[in-house]
Amino acid sequence: MKLLVTGGAGFIGSAFVRLLLGSADAPRVINLDKLTYAGNLENLEAVAAHTNYRFVHGDICDTALVDALLTEEKPDAIVHFAAESHVDRSIFSPSPAFETNLRGTFTLLEAARAHQAPRFVHVSTDEVYGSLEAPLEADESFPLNPSSPYSASKAGSDLLARSYFTTYKLPVLITRASNNYGAYQFPEKLLPLMISNALEGRPLPVYGDGLQVRDWLYVDDHCRAIRAVVEKGREGEIYNIGGSRSLPNLEVVRKILAGTDASETLIRYVEDRPGHDRRYALSSVKIMRETGWAPLTSFEDGLARTIDWYRQNGAWVERVKSGEYRSYYARNYDNRGSELRRTGSARRVPKP
Ligand code: NAD
Ligand code: DAU
Repeated sequence: MKLLVTGGAGFIGSAFVRLLLGSADAPRVINLDKLTYAGNLENLEAVAAHTNYRFVHGDICDTALVDALLTEEKPDAIVHFAAESHVDRSIFSPSPAFETNLRGTFTLLEAARAHQAPRFVHVSTDEVYGSLEAPLEADESFPLNPSSPYSASKAGSDLLARSYFTTYKLPVLITRASNNYGAYQFPEKLLPLMISNALEGRPLPVYGDGLQVRDWLYVDDHCRAIRAVVEKGREGEIYNIGGSRSLPNLEVVRKILAGTDASETLIRYVEDRPGHDRRYALSSVKIMRETGWAPLTSFEDGLARTIDWYRQNGAWVERVKSGEYRSYYARNYDNRGSELRRTGSARRVPKP
């Protein structure tokens, strides 16, 4: 078995590559990654020397490179993670999301069609369903209703991938997962941002009233689900992947404060995200029924492990929080509320 993984130096892609290469029957893995701000080869140090691993530094929008790679490697499956994955960045600057998520996916699909790739797993997201009123849960036939430039670009690429199955019979499978968390996540997303800020005694910026609801999925559970889809999924099908654990953001933040021994006084309510989706919820019955997959990690266990990882890996956090991250942080947070700026260097107040 030979897999071409795109975006394998990012948060979920690197967990997937580590999972594959850590298994007894490790397949050959070719990782194509542009190494944007979110790509980090440190995430792959544990497997970089594996004889079945090859890293290719490049852009999925590069038609000639993708074509040459498929000619040379003839993978049994393409697992497509590469994306601009952050909603707030896509709001400030939609162009990279358009380029990578739409044009990049199109480039890969065209190459897969030309080379008659045996399997194309497109990693989509539950954000394509948009905000759902309680108690609704989206199943795979739910209409797409994306809100942000990020989720619209993912919905577009999701539909494009589907069209290649319908029109060209390219063996496409689509996964739509909920919010992932775990080790090596770039600290622009809720959990790593709040955990690392809490550990550093910095303010925790909660958008709006903090009562938005997300379903939390431990990254290793997500990766096992993707492997199950690669191995057992049916061509042309869509598979939702959820953690079966919905929580309001504020509750998540309070659990993080408790897990890091930080004070509630670090919480800052800041200006809301424009177009902020209130609630995501999805049903994962189909993937459970068809592949036997189920999430194994409770949110409490996963969060404890994640906090522990960020505690133990301060040097990784420090490196990714330097450089570009600082200007991103200032751009996203400095104008969201004067209180946050004033107290930007607040020290940690240990719990009594
Ligand atoms: P990430 O931002 O951590 O990593 C993205 C990776 O893609 C990086 O390594 C980056 O260098 C690479 N990349 C970006 N543009 C590229 C290009 N043009 N060519 C080649 N490589 C490129 O993202 P993530 O959180 O690991 O998400 C991975 C995938 O999973 C994305 O498709 C995302 O939409 C989807 N997803 C994410 C979540 C989540 O909670 N993070 C949930 C559901 C689905
Ligand atoms: O649902 C799957 C999606 O989950 C993935 O497709 C995306 O790639 C991934 O980024 C994530 O999108 P969200 O927008 O849900 O994740 P984020 O971590 O950015 O935010 C989670 C919630 O926390 C959301 O309601 C916004 C809120 N939030 C986020 C940040 C960064 C805050 O309140 N404060 C913050 O500083």
